[in-house]
Amino acid sequence: MDICAVVMAAGNSTRMKSAHSKVVHQVCGKPIIQWVADALCEAGCNEQVYIVGDKQEEIRNILGESVAYVFQEQRLGTGHAVMQAAPFLEGRDGYTIVLPGDCPMVSADTINKSIEKISEGDYAAVVITAQADDPTGYGRLVRDENDNVLRIVEHKDATEEERAIKEINSSMYIFKTSLLLSALGRLSASNAQKEYYLTDTIGILINDGHVVSSVVCDFEDTFGVNDRIQLMRANQIMNKRILRKHMRNGVEIVDENAVWIHSAVEIGRDTVILPGTTIMGNTVIGEECIIGENSRLDCVEVGDGTVLDYSVATSCIIGKNCRIGPFAHIRPSTKIDDNVTLGAYVEVKNSTIGEYTRARHLTYIGDSTVGKNVNFGCGTVTCNFDGQDKVGCIIEDNVFIGGNSNILSSVVLGKDSYIAAGSTITADVPSLGLGIGRSKQVNKEDWVAQKNRLRGASFIKLDSKRSEV
Ligand code: UD1
Ligand code: CA
Repeated sequence: MDICAVVMAAGNSTRMKSAHSKVVHQVCGKPIIQWVADALCEAGCNEQVYIVGDKQEEIRNILGESVAYVFQEQRLGTGHAVMQAAPFLEGRDGYTIVLPGDCPMVSADTINKSIEKISEGDYAAVVITAQADDPTGYGRLVRDENDNVLRIVEHKDATEEERAIKEINSSMYIFKTSLLLSALGRLSASNAQKEYYLTDTIGILINDGHVVSSVVCDFEDTFGVNDRIQLMRANQIMNKRILRKHMRNGVEIVDENAVWIHSAVEIGRDTVILPGTTIMGNTVIGEECIIGENSRLDCVEVGDGTVLDYSVATSCIIGKNCRIGPFAHIRPSTKIDDNVTLGAYVEVKNSTIGEYTRARHLTYIGDSTVGKNVNFGCGTVTCNFDGQDKVGCIIEDNVFIGGNSNILSSVVLGKDSYIAAGSTITADVPSLGLGIGRSKQVNKEDWVAQKNRLRGASFIKLDSKRSEV
């Protein structure tokens, strides 16, 4: 079957109040226009023509060169938009699907139903419609007493009686290509908006003696994004769909109103996602994990059984059975092996961490290679910036680092070595050795007693007050 899709995306997006085309705004991490393109591809419609306007570069950057583009110089309406695709359609035998570029909820299933419908009868076109609780602003389907489609009337042109109709035009259609072209050639702009309405092609085809049928779908599937409030609503609807898909696959989501998951995310079964969590990009989470509360993962790979609590992780790999957070920050290009613990206020960037290594509190590890079973004392800092370059250190297996230590750029801490607490380590420490990098302690005998004598009675008074409390 010869099927070509025309997607109208040249509008000015006035109601969005944005410097960008409305169709490049994202719904659950994917541009609206990409949702439309993906639904078409899933339905097997790979030949796609996009009608684009002044913001065409943004759309081209998203969809690339596997689809065709036509520039609509002046925005004279949806009928005028489709007319621009005429050079692609002329001489073709089959069908043309027309979709608006602003409907991220369109599904391959709805597209397929319209294709089935038009191929099973002698129809000039099939309009995808829906019942709307509040049809204000939409074009309405006018039918005769036998329920046959007569025409579509735009809200602004409708009579009171027509405005009472709840069946709306989704702006998604499939036409016999030759008949679409013949009707487009006869559109006029004599209406309330002085535009060439694509909707008028339906009345024209029926006046020619053709039959137009319809497919009724769920109102949510037709949802169009014209302004910021509809964009929020589209995100809410889509997010709920994504969450339900994960729940059906065995993921536990405690509150579907407090978790956001982008479309490409994969999650294993028996994983629990707690409130306040956003999972973005191509994140892949294993089974039996607990993610959240209040965490953000963006393009992260998480192994089975890992717990990540009140933490942020971006473009990194976290192994199995790790304990991350609360309040950990795992930055890009980090690879954490299995059974690692990174606790409160631990930040890791562009580093590899071997299995069973622990940094439970207040530690920064940057641009470094860390072996297995290393213990970072509270307050350890890898001083990875030498003033010009970012160079971390190498910490081999089983190293024990005492609290509040600084490990300078390029230093190697040999296998099984110890670092004394409070050290600033500027040179390599040999395997099995102890590195001490701090000044020697001096004790001054009776120093406090002498100080007290100098301060006299006031100190003693303060002290006795303290003991009263
Ligand atoms: C359109 C339909 C209406 C339907 C509604 C469903 C018409 C006349 N009206 O109204 O019956 O109920 O969709 O959401 O078709 N566009 C262009 N070039 C133009 C004008 C528009 O490419 O000159 C594109 C827009 O970018 C948009 C799509 O066509 O993606 C629809 O246009 P829009 O202005 O949003 O139409 P609606 O007022 O929503
Ligand atoms: Ca619209």
